[in-house]
Amino acid sequence: TRGDTVVTEEQRKPGPSGGLRSEKYFQEKELWGFIHRSFTKSMGYTDEDLKKPVIGICNTFSELNKCHSHFNELVEYVKRGVWQAGGVPMEFPTISIGEPYVKPTTMLLRNLMAMDTEEMMKAHPIDGVVLLGGCDKTVPAQLMAAASANLPSIVLTGGPMLNGRLNGRSLGACTDCYGFTLEHKAGNLTDEELAVAEDAICRSDGHCMVMGTASTMASIAEAIGMALPGCAAIPAPDSRRKHLAERTGKQIVELVRRDLRPRDIMTADAIDNAIRVTMASGGSTNAIIHLVAIAGRLGLKLPLRRFDELSAETPLLLNLRPSGQYQMEEYFEAGGVPALMKELEPLLNGDCLTVTGRTIRENIASARTLNRDVIRSLEAPLDPQGGIAVLQGNLAPDGALIKQSAVSPGLKRHRGRAVVFDSPADLAARIDDPALDVDENSVLVLKNAGPKGAPAMPEIGQIPIPSKLLKRGVRDMVRLSDARISGTSYGALVVHVAPEAAIGGPLALVQDGDEIELDIAERRLALLVPEEELAKRRQGWQPPSPHYDRGYGYLFQERVLQANLGCDFDFLLPKELREELLTGK
Ligand code: FES
Ligand code: MG
Repeated sequence: TRGDTVVTEEQRKPGPSGGLRSEKYFQEKELWGFIHRSFTKSMGYTDEDLKKPVIGICNTFSELNKCHSHFNELVEYVKRGVWQAGGVPMEFPTISIGEPYVKPTTMLLRNLMAMDTEEMMKAHPIDGVVLLGGCDKTVPAQLMAAASANLPSIVLTGGPMLNGRLNGRSLGACTDCYGFTLEHKAGNLTDEELAVAEDAICRSDGHCMVMGTASTMASIAEAIGMALPGCAAIPAPDSRRKHLAERTGKQIVELVRRDLRPRDIMTADAIDNAIRVTMASGGSTNAIIHLVAIAGRLGLKLPLRRFDELSAETPLLLNLRPSGQYQMEEYFEAGGVPALMKELEPLLNGDCLTVTGRTIRENIASARTLNRDVIRSLEAPLDPQGGIAVLQGNLAPDGALIKQSAVSPGLKRHRGRAVVFDSPADLAARIDDPALDVDENSVLVLKNAGPKGAPAMPEIGQIPIPSKLLKRGVRDMVRLSDARISGTSYGALVVHVAPEAAIGGPLALVQDGDEIELDIAERRLALLVPEEELAKRRQGWQPPSPHYDRGYGYLFQERVLQANLGCDFDFLLPKELREELLTGK
């Protein structure tokens, strides 16, 4: 099914073939036309405005979402652009989900946000949409919605925070959040020093400024063609983001005029470009789940194998934390995503169309790298391979991921005995127990932290190093789970093990003392236990009791797909793809 680039008539409906969608509301002769005009004009819009393309601006401002705290200002610049280009802006909200607060995890709400956004787009007199996103799950939710609604759409991300600064050191959220709390726990930082670090690390508007999930998804929005060139890396408080916001507002009106839609842009080739950019950037493992989900909305199957193929032949070029040295601010100064894509040009599908109305090749024609230490060349990469490897083996028949660019060199090939935790609660209760039978060669295994198990795969795959080992100087160990990790985390973390333990995947059968082998070069993840023994254990396995008996959580737990299928709800996929995936054909 790869290569579906044709936009069907069905996808275009309701569309400009019969005039703008908004005309159906505002030019109607009968009662409802009267009501639409009257109610709209009461907000100050004029009869003249009602003849213009209506641009919905999805403003996800929320004081519960720090990464979007500046959106009410940014949205004004989008509106300027819309007015200038002859459109009429109408702002609307959806839910907004920020990483720090949402419990149990924002991943539980990503699909809800995607549904909210899609339905808002479809239900209103909107001819085109500007999607303001930023924090980790918001941009994927909006891209999923855009793929499904297929109305002319353009993404404007809020931009990364400025670098944190402390004692001449550049700090990054949240890579350094781990470091500070770890050193505090190890007794090397006082409470006062920790508080000073808290103030210094996040000092401006914007999302996390390392190549975490937010920066990865912003890069993907650009690479896949859905955001204007340069959008991802401009720091949130930089005036140039305001300029870009205005251009975004102008451009959406142009997209409506040309009837250029998400499915004209987000093709299988464009998804490959997004994967290449992710791999060359040392991007977040979360991006894989999101890209599979976005592809699914487009009716495209995107097996994990494709990520590994492209990763194997895409060098790591971007020297950004957590894999490298710098942060988004330096990336911006070095030329941002357009410069990175220029370096990658021989590997990209240059013909892909973008929201500029031009191709990737045309967009990056004059891009160049301004700092060679930040963005490397294909000839002198940081690593000949991309950042993420897909592992396979009897422990993960449907795959698992490891961010190989963030693994300590000594652990890329490792064999050790399992120390098993049955759930996130069990982990929290026992990890620092002085009596825990563990050493630096052990493999820490966490079960029941997957899509249905935890629920919603919280970012707890960075299993903490046991205190007693920390105090002995151990800073990395092989750790394995069906959870996710934050895009900013670091270490030998095998995650997204599928199928998950909670549905009886092989992970459910691992016991203390079992030998586990990881070989990143060979892409191998093996549980060295004889099949007869595993069969015996399988017979005695009981599924954990469900987390919810009502509400959205219940819907999530009933209908969420496994990690390798993107964790979307089955019923949100196009019917044909859904049936193919669920019958396993
Ligand atoms: Fe929003 Fe990190 S908390 S991007
Ligand atoms: Mg994150």
